[in-house]
Amino acid sequence: MTSAAIKRVRNHDGWVFRDEILRADASLPAGELVDVTDHQERFVACAFYNAHSHIPLRIISLDADEASDPTWLPHRIAQAIAQRARLTHTNAKRLIFSEADRLPGLIVDQYADYLVVQFRSAGMDRLREMVVESLQNLLHPQGILERSDKEFREEEGLPASTRVLSGDVPQRILIEEGSLRFLVDPHRGLKTGFYLDQRPTRTRLLALVEPDQQVLDTFSYTGSLGISAAKRGARVVCVEQQESFIELAKENAQLNGVANRIEWIAGDAFYWLTAQAESKTNFHWVVLDPPALAKQKQQMVKGRQALHHLVVHALRLLPPDGSLLLSVCTYHLLNAVEEIVRIASADVGCRLSIRDQWLQADDHPWILHVPATRYLTSWRFSTSA
Ligand SMILES: C[S@@+](CC[C@H](N)C(=O)[O-])C[C@H]1O[C@@H](n2cnc3c(N)ncnc32)[C@H](O)[C@@H]1O
Repeated sequence: MTSAAIKRVRNHDGWVFRDEILRADASLPAGELVDVTDHQERFVACAFYNAHSHIPLRIISLDADEASDPTWLPHRIAQAIAQRARLTHTNAKRLIFSEADRLPGLIVDQYADYLVVQFRSAGMDRLREMVVESLQNLLHPQGILERSDKEFREEEGLPASTRVLSGDVPQRILIEEGSLRFLVDPHRGLKTGFYLDQRPTRTRLLALVEPDQQVLDTFSYTGSLGISAAKRGARVVCVEQQESFIELAKENAQLNGVANRIEWIAGDAFYWLTAQAESKTNFHWVVLDPPALAKQKQQMVKGRQALHHLVVHALRLLPPDGSLLLSVCTYHLLNAVEEIVRIASADVGCRLSIRDQWLQADDHPWILHVPATRYLTSWRFSTSA
């Protein structure tokens, strides 16, 4: 490894990139646990190695003894689960968040009595049996589903894999989050079925929206944000492109006793917002929670334009003292968001203040030393005269 990479790894960075590796044994199979050394062959770290990946080394430990002890994996799994034990107002949480729990490439989400697992690195893929056994011993779930989708696996040279690993996993699982209830489709839903990371946004809507306010929830998926607002007595319009998600969202609205307060629009939120700006309708709240707008750095310009478009049209719908709730999961755009919103507000001619800013839910902790683990940020802007 280069000396710069060694320095970063010693300061707990979890990733080493291809051009930082000076020499590697070409015969190493993907996902092998290897010792990483400096130019004098002294131990630096133990890591998963995968020559296919643009992150060939994922650090496991800086302690040679820990990594050679076969209990490191079950021990870390138990530790991660124990750290979420205080999250008691919900039976749906992220139990293991990859690098943040020093388990690179492993995601485990709990939905009531079921677990959904993703193996996103070749190294974790090789340890899958031990992972499943540890989860069974610790949690005794009724079923474990693997949702190792293509988007994470291709990069590691692994095929996509969706299958039940143990027990049975129903098509829909009922979860609870405080006063809210949702049905989750772990087999076909986005991510592992539900946006667990948006829990703090639901909490804010439940706390701040007032009865009889008008709320627009764009990119609404299965309705978690719009339903939170409706639960407070607001009248809500939800816009979502995929009809199957709207079907599930409608069931969720029924479950929460708010079906009569929500209008569902199946369509493209970009077009819908543009068309709506022509009308005189106002919303006290506009929620923008788009999917990733730039998957790679090269798509930044397009991503900026898309976000600017959304914000301009959302701002046109807000009265004075209205709130724009914006969530951005596009890592490459995060640092530019406030500037984009400032430019958009100049186009619309309104003054904005930032009333609040928050991150992904804290069962998805982000590591200071691996900045990409902070992937979701939300803002509440309010308009003022
Ligand atoms: C980040 S998710 C929203 C999560 C949701 N707020 C929640 O808390 O469950 C983005 C959603 O936008 C939808 N989507 C993607 N492009 C869209 C578009 N152009 N118009 C409307 N919906 C779109 C996706 O189907 C997905 O459900």
